Amino acid sequence: MKHPSILKGALAALLLTPAFLVSSQDYIPSTEVIEARKQFSDDRFGIFIHWGIYSMFGQGEWYLNYGPNADEYKKAAKAFYPADFNAAEWVTAIKDAGARYICITTRHHDGFSMFHTAENDYNIVDGTPFGRDILKELADECQKQDIALHLYYSHLDWVRDDYPQGRTGHDTGRDPEKRDWNSYYGFMNRQLTELLTNYGPIRAIWFDGWWDHDEDPVPFDWHLPEQYSLIHSLQPGCMVANNHHQVPFEGEDIQIFERDLPGENSAGLSGQDISQLPLETCNTMNGMWGYKLMDQNYKDSATLIRYLVKTAGMGANLLLNIGPQPNGELPSVALSRLKDIGAWLRENGETIYATQAGPFPAQSWGTSTLKGNRLFLHVMTPDSNAILIPEGVRIKKAKKFTDKSPVRISKAGKHTVIHLDSIPEETDCIIECEI
Ligand code: GLC
Repeated sequence: MKHPSILKGALAALLLTPAFLVSSQDYIPSTEVIEARKQFSDDRFGIFIHWGIYSMFGQGEWYLNYGPNADEYKKAAKAFYPADFNAAEWVTAIKDAGARYICITTRHHDGFSMFHTAENDYNIVDGTPFGRDILKELADECQKQDIALHLYYSHLDWVRDDYPQGRTGHDTGRDPEKRDWNSYYGFMNRQLTELLTNYGPIRAIWFDGWWDHDEDPVPFDWHLPEQYSLIHSLQPGCMVANNHHQVPFEGEDIQIFERDLPGENSAGLSGQDISQLPLETCNTMNGMWGYKLMDQNYKDSATLIRYLVKTAGMGANLLLNIGPQPNGELPSVALSRLKDIGAWLRENGETIYATQAGPFPAQSWGTSTLKGNRLFLHVMTPDSNAILIPEGVRIKKAKKFTDKSPVRISKAGKHTVIHLDSIPEETDCIIECEI
């Protein structure tokens, strides 16, 4: 198949313009990107979608890494027919949940493209009996329903011989002799060009897989600055995020944390310093990103809502994942969690969207968010009806956010104490304070 000349043109332009020479140290975000960062931070809640042919095996998106030969694995594409996929239903459910953006896997580590690419036939349109460009359908629907779209794109590829093998995917049958960085880099940049040319406005490209080379004795050069420049040259307002588990590199617009809140490291993937960039924590509803039959261990709605609140309390966004089924539907448990989160956000979203982190770190009773001089105390896990506020926060007045009934405050040394009638038992008892 031939590459449309527009793609060649864009790449040629990249190679010829000074952008190619611009080091990432010189990155100055455009006005469009600055605006996108602001919108993104205000959104606070997005839905991650991990979907690919791996959903057919029902064992998560890393299935190919654990043994199958890539040639055998790839045959699944020929049977991929997600008859019940309906972009309008997905977007409606996600919007009703109060999410303000969607990030979908366009190509995961198994190398399968969930969009129509001219690069190879191993894609949703040319390689499956389904033959529909699900990304196009989703992108059109996102525009129609006015919700931002972010695209996940894997730097790492377990199938292509030209990808320089790193520390994962050793048993898939790739031929290391055929590694060819220039070929692979060109392939990625042409695909990114397709993604940023054929699918309307894309608010962010979300990279993953950098860490496949983090144990190389000599630092592996992914040539990120040139790739980031390509992205910005194609869509000046498109942000760049990279799930490398490091402090952001120059040229990036979002700092990602995987499975942990900023500053925490329970999953062993974090611990990096927190930057000034907009922050995003991605996490799963159950334990897996891609659809996994044996993992019905979904967190309950209260836990997910509290996680969203805690994330907002740190001034970060939550990107909460769903792994759609092989038939194209979102799992019913995920749908029911979306409903509950949506109902909660309709009542309380004002204390989450477009807020900043509160003026003190999370406390044993909960956390706080801030909007101007309105401080929202989110009392989620109190062990007393007297809520102790850390020193240095001057609270003038307090009331319950839900019914606006006044709440008594007192002083205990340098602390303010908020007195509730009883120990709250709801998911999140919100106290609105004037500071
Ligand atoms: C990890 C995994 C990947 C998943 C991603 C989401 O990097 O490799 O499967 O897509 O995290 O954060």
